[in-house]
Amino acid sequence: MPETKSVLFVCLGNICRSPTGEGVLLRLIEEQNLESRLLVDSAGTSGYHVGQPADGRMSECAARRGYPLLSRSRQLVHQDMHEFDLVIAMDRSNQRAIEAVNSQPTATICLLSDFLADDWPVDVPDPYYGGEAGFEEVLDMIEAACPQILSTLLE
Ligand code: 4NP
Repeated sequence: MPETKSVLFVCLGNICRSPTGEGVLLRLIEEQNLESRLLVDSAGTSGYHVGQPADGRMSECAARRGYPLLSRSRQLVHQDMHEFDLVIAMDRSNQRAIEAVNSQPTATICLLSDFLADDWPVDVPDPYYGGEAGFEEVLDMIEAACPQILSTLLE
């Protein structure tokens, strides 16, 4: 019986980028019938939007590509860095914030762009104060990274 692996996507508000990471990876998992082997969640380094669903602009763009975003925002806690195998930060600023929440994690903490070729940006740009193109860029980066994230989790 293969062990269950867990992954947590993390951004600032947990209403745009990390719910999208969760939604895109969950669809890949469902398509490949891997639900019993993988656990996916998301969180924010801030508590600005705790309890809220994904941002409507993000949800609309994701829905157009076939991804429902069903999570509610929650704030990252110290324990997450012991409970998850892999914690994926959307940008370097959030990666630093994650490391500040727990300086002795058992989880591997990395960037989403660690799963992308070098010609992609290092950070998934924060789309919150911008226009629609920013939300599409979030989806482009996450869709490109998720197959690699999945194969890493299944190694
Ligand atoms: P996220 O986007 O970190 O991708 O969820 C943001 C959501 C809210 C805010 C900033 C970024 N905010 O400042 O409220």
